[in-house]
Amino acid sequence: MQLVKTLHPPKVKKSSKPIDRGIRNIDSYTHLRGESLYVDDVNVREGTLHAVVFDSNCAHGKIKNIDYSKALDLTGVVSILTSKDVPGENQIGGIFPDEPLFAEGEVHYWGQPMALIVAETKTIAKKARRLIVAEYEELPVITTAKQAKEKGSFISAPRSFNLGDVDGTFAECDYIFEGESFSNGQEHLYIEAQGAYAEPLENGNIRIVSSTQGPTAVQKTTAQVLGLPMHKIEIDVTRLGGGFGGKEDQATPWAVMAALAAQHLNQSVKLILDRHDDLRMTGKRHPYNSTYKIGLSKDLKILAYEVELLQNAGAAADLSPAIAERTLFHATNSYYVPNVKSTVYSCKTNLPPNTAFRGFGGPQGMFVIESAIAQAASELGVLPSAIQEANLLEENQEFSYGQVATKVEAKNSWMSAKEKFQLEQAREKIYEFNSNSPVAKKGLAVMPITFGISFTNTQMNHARALVHIYQDGSIGISTAAVEMGQGVNTKLLQIAADIFSVNGRKVKIESTNTTRVANTSPSAASSTADLNGKALVMACENLLNRLKTIVAQEYKVDEKEVALKDEWVYVAGQKTDITWEQLIFKAMALRVALTENAHYATPIIHFDKSKEKGHPFAYHVYGTAIVTATVDCLRGTYEFDSVKIVHDYGKSMNPGIDLGQVEGALIQGIGWMTLEEIAYAENGRLLSNALSTYKVPDIYSVPKEVEVLPLETDGNDMAILKSKAVGEPPLMYGIGAYFAIQNAMKAFNPNYKMKFHAPMTPEKVLLGLYNQ
Ligand code: MTE
Ligand code: HPA
Ligand code: MOS
Repeated sequence: MQLVKTLHPPKVKKSSKPIDRGIRNIDSYTHLRGESLYVDDVNVREGTLHAVVFDSNCAHGKIKNIDYSKALDLTGVVSILTSKDVPGENQIGGIFPDEPLFAEGEVHYWGQPMALIVAETKTIAKKARRLIVAEYEELPVITTAKQAKEKGSFISAPRSFNLGDVDGTFAECDYIFEGESFSNGQEHLYIEAQGAYAEPLENGNIRIVSSTQGPTAVQKTTAQVLGLPMHKIEIDVTRLGGGFGGKEDQATPWAVMAALAAQHLNQSVKLILDRHDDLRMTGKRHPYNSTYKIGLSKDLKILAYEVELLQNAGAAADLSPAIAERTLFHATNSYYVPNVKSTVYSCKTNLPPNTAFRGFGGPQGMFVIESAIAQAASELGVLPSAIQEANLLEENQEFSYGQVATKVEAKNSWMSAKEKFQLEQAREKIYEFNSNSPVAKKGLAVMPITFGISFTNTQMNHARALVHIYQDGSIGISTAAVEMGQGVNTKLLQIAADIFSVNGRKVKIESTNTTRVANTSPSAASSTADLNGKALVMACENLLNRLKTIVAQEYKVDEKEVALKDEWVYVAGQKTDITWEQLIFKAMALRVALTENAHYATPIIHFDKSKEKGHPFAYHVYGTAIVTATVDCLRGTYEFDSVKIVHDYGKSMNPGIDLGQVEGALIQGIGWMTLEEIAYAENGRLLSNALSTYKVPDIYSVPKEVEVLPLETDGNDMAILKSKAVGEPPLMYGIGAYFAIQNAMKAFNPNYKMKFHAPMTPEKVLLGLYNQ
């Protein structure tokens, strides 16, 4: 008799118990008590050494000489490692091999790592750093994308997405407007700075605890630099104190350096960047300089849109080409534009390589079309929302990249927001307020968003899950998902608890580890719960079916008659006397495998770069925000009265966590658009290098009222349990803040000419208010 009939039986219906959507973040208890572990909290081996990075204080130059002698003489300094100590390749570039781990011959940005100082304590290592003398022959420094374009300094060839006939259509437009727009970079400011701890094991193996979104990237690059096969390197991640894209690629060098030192010295090495070092050495969101031309008909339809986007990539590719591509994917935001010509240049400058940041280039593209619409509205004397509403994407319309939009919620979310938040009445109240208030003026803006879900690089859309049911009935789950505060571990726990119908306390989400789940994509693109969650569903369902077979055979019934509910076995709807624990005990006795591994790869998606057409996204996320601001027209300061959002969660599997994502992303978006001003000197030195010179949103900059209503929809089957990705899209609601402020300024100064140069800091507001 064959007990287990099929290893991979066909899908069966999930347990009847509805998923527990109300579960709170499983990290909340240890977070609140300060017991959650980060890299700096790992128990280190006795004798662990501490490392500090020596970096360039010249943004572009030939290295003439570096004198390490005084630093090496300092008591407690163990070693200083440079490119000469790299046994493999001195190369960490992710997309292109254009980035050395340690500078060799030349430096390309201020803050570029040149050496690693390893000492008995961090204090000694830092003291040694001040004793190193570097001499450069200085070369011309480029800090802006415009300068780079003029000089022909590029990371990669430009990319263009085209739809229809732009040039021909402009000839037929009733109105044409042209303009310029700039959006600045943004510092990730994850609370946990970059860092890693590397431990040498036997036989030259190395184990690294890293604060990374991409464990496999760390493993692969460490192996390449150390000249080892990947199986000798193990990466372990418990959680991150925030990543926001800043640890998708840029967590790698620190882990590699710690591992290199561990390999050389056969001792554990810890490398944690100080905030100042982190701010100076790591890349940020890409600033973009853009020019646009928008053509409309008399009835405000956008007929043609041409845009050229200059991305300030910094001194090496990092993820810039992929980010540039996503800028094009989102260049028309939530609108259907039948004729589009969009081109992006990835410009090479002497800044730290800029990198992934929540939205991955999408927000930058969306800001430009919103700028174009605002300018058109201002010059035509209509409300921007009249143009926005007239052009919202509808079912079966085509994006410039060839994907045909289905299950579109652009209009739905817009109309819901308009009605539920009484947009017209809100406007009237503002007109009334403004006509009675000489100094304080209010402004309102509506901001629709559309964001594509999937890694734009199709081949990255896969994940695996490894599930063990232990013999006592407790469950251990490993996936590629990295918990960075977004709550993915809680969602994974919900999935397993739901499928097995067990209490969540029976489920443990293991650390993310490359020996348990290999060859992973980073936790990014808002897709972590979708990809890993779908793999987890498959693994759990396979195990569940195996368990059901045991019961079916014992009761001589069809497997369809077997169900698990609240840790009890049911047959034909009747509760049996078998508990979950007893079922697992039986499975052990019958020698049934209680471990399962499953692989998920997003179906349908594809993209042909030679044609720049395809179907890159599993689905899109939609939503609409109404932002209201009050500007103090004596001081130039402002506050946000309210942000009211209708957001497309699909069918949220955890409304509490998802609301937290919307609120956090919104505030981060508002910060980017209004306060956060990255500044570099002409010589390439970061000026906004501390929290005294770089302003991030605090409790006072949070809108007085934030209301988020879920859009009623059927969800999308490509999303995990129909619960749509939520990590990045709501950041773009923050773009509305920029326009709300300008609309208030216009109410004070009718001569104010719209400017599209973010962030809209109080200084810029003040200058604009009195500009004639
Ligand atoms: N939320 C918190 N608390 N911390 C983070 O670092 N990163 C954001 C977003 N939300 C982030 C976050 C970014 S950039 C992405 S891509 C997604 O979370 C990644 O997680 P997800 O794929 O599970 O949404
Ligand atoms: N989003 C985030 N990270 C990525 C992507 C993306 O679309 N593509 C490659 N890395
Ligand atoms: Mo998010 S920018 O995809 O890490």
